[in-house]
Amino acid sequence: MPEKLSFKDKVVIITGAGGGLGRVYALEFAKRGAKVVVNDLGGSLKGEGHNARAADVVVNEIKQGFKNGDAVANYDSVTDGAENIVQTALRAFGQVDVVVNNAGILRDASFGKMTPQAFQSVLDVHLNGAYKLTKAAWPHMKQRKFGRIINTCSPAGLYGNFGQANYSAAKLALVGFSETLAKEGFKYNICVNCIVPLARSRMTEKIIPPHILKQLAPEKIAPLVLYLTHESVNVTNSIFELAAGFYAQVRWERSSGQIFKPDPKTLTPEALLKEWGHIVEFKDKSFQKVEHPVQLADYNMLITKARQLPASDQGNVKIESL
Ligand code: NAI
Repeated sequence: MPEKLSFKDKVVIITGAGGGLGRVYALEFAKRGAKVVVNDLGGSLKGEGHNARAADVVVNEIKQGFKNGDAVANYDSVTDGAENIVQTALRAFGQVDVVVNNAGILRDASFGKMTPQAFQSVLDVHLNGAYKLTKAAWPHMKQRKFGRIINTCSPAGLYGNFGQANYSAAKLALVGFSETLAKEGFKYNICVNCIVPLARSRMTEKIIPPHILKQLAPEKIAPLVLYLTHESVNVTNSIFELAAGFYAQVRWERSSGQIFKPDPKTLTPEALLKEWGHIVEFKDKSFQKVEHPVQLADYNMLITKARQLPASDQGNVKIESL
């Protein structure tokens, strides 16, 4: 592992890099020698309107702020211009090494009041935008056997948040998306991770009290994005929460659970009622451990456990049907 993580000769696409977190990432990558595609539609927080200024300002900051700073602006929306964002990188710099899916909007409303348009537009930017850009960059990464992808999740995605059914759905979908791409990308040296940040930006400045906002500089998020996308780091398939300088990993946890004899006469809702405390027990039991599954194959454990029942008690458990 090198002492200083350089991005010299690396081409980085950052969506929504005209402000907030994306801008800070762009500056930090450029400072370390990367050639940066600064994508930003330049719209409002709700995703309305567009303005080339947002991306242009950041490109100028890079060109004027850093010796040999190299960046190009792109003003496409991730919703319908993803292919062009990748073409911008290829035309200007000839390759794509890193994609940071960061562009985002909010259309908050309690679920009863949330219009179908508000639901769809948030999915379009966060989820479909990340999908479309990744889809356009993927073959280039695969061909060069190198790629680093960051998808931006949110605490609202992991845990839910009042008024954000659209945003939560899109953000958690990105976790599943990332976990699958991490597996498919592994043999091509494409690493895919999710970050779950909390930072000061126009997205949070009206909802978080000022004394807390003070601690949430976006500069405290960028180090992880750069670490995870460096060529010397092959962390993949992971989720990280970070805010105010605190960094941690998040993982799935399966309770130690309860095995039932798979007999329709005894495997009834009433049996679950009786054993509910055991089903949701998050302490190790004698032969059933709390686990942290990371792949579908970990379902084998469930079947293995079920098979710990006497042979006469085993049901017809088929892995294909899981
Ligand atoms: P921000 O509003 O400052 O930045 C988002 C940028 O995305 C804006 O510059 C906007 O113009 C751009 N954008 C929006 N729609 C676009 C589109 N269709 N195509 C291209 N660019 C588009 O917000 P912030 O806080 O910097 O958010 C960055 C990412 O981090 C978002 O995905 C957000 O959901 C996520 N996030 C932020 C948190 C925070 O505490 N600030 C918390 C959790 C997640």
